[in-house]
Amino acid sequence: MPAELIDGVAVAKLVRADVARDTAALVARGVTPGLTVVLVGDDPASAVYVRAKEKACLEAGMNGRTIRLSADTPQADLLALIDTLNADPTVHGILVQMPPPKHIDPQAVILRISAAKDVDGFHPVNVGRVWIGEKSGFAPCTPAGVMVLLERAGVQVAGANAVVLGRSTIVGKPMTSLLVNASATVTVCHSKTKDLAAVTRGADILIAAIGRPEFVTADMVKPGAVVIDVGINRVDDASKEKGYRIVGDVQFSGVRDVASKITPVPGGVGPMTIAMLLQNTVRAATQGLA
Ligand code: GUN
Repeated sequence: MPAELIDGVAVAKLVRADVARDTAALVARGVTPGLTVVLVGDDPASAVYVRAKEKACLEAGMNGRTIRLSADTPQADLLALIDTLNADPTVHGILVQMPPPKHIDPQAVILRISAAKDVDGFHPVNVGRVWIGEKSGFAPCTPAGVMVLLERAGVQVAGANAVVLGRSTIVGKPMTSLLVNASATVTVCHSKTKDLAAVTRGADILIAAIGRPEFVTADMVKPGAVVIDVGINRVDDASKEKGYRIVGDVQFSGVRDVASKITPVPGGVGPMTIAMLLQNTVRAATQGLA
């Protein structure tokens, strides 16, 4: 029997409805949660993401603002803008779209954002808080969204063998900390891992986040495993109008016949990322009241 699909669009809608309700309650108390997104340069993919974030904020009843800076903006000017946003009480969340242009050090940017407004969960203070399981920390949106998908799909995480494929700062590492804190037994795999398929075949929960199109094949998956595909990759496809199609890190049609539950791409993890960003922003606004 093919795996059950975990519907990220439906779950994201539920999360966004919760966020809209919490936002309305804050507005009634005189506080409108506000997210400011800063986009430096004109990368077209980043521009699409940023527009989607602003639109989602407005739909939830929050203030969503985008500040667009030219690609040659000096790092010092960007850091000065962050200082201004840190001091602005109407701004509860700050997100600088990554990657910035080459002359800007992303770590300097991340460190400058107040940890209390770091709704991306990239600041070392939030990384540390999430690692030690402190609830006040902001977890990065994509792995946080994976945890919500697992919960809503009724997947037992405590005691499960979870394998995380990929060790990026944005997904693999925070995914590991969230799973450990949910009492999974976690193995992290990467480009130097020996006999990768043997490791992934031990997974009750397999998280694919390596950015390689259709890398995970059916022979790498234990029958009955839950497979979460974080990948968003463009592959050439002359039959499509745009000349490409989007695939995940999992070879979906094959793995679907082995797994018990699986996220599709698109429509799985992707929609959760913005939903969790909104949730973090509402939390930042709420924590600001305390
Ligand atoms: N670029 C791609 N994904 C993200 C994200 O989640 N946050 C930021 N700030 N930049 C990104």
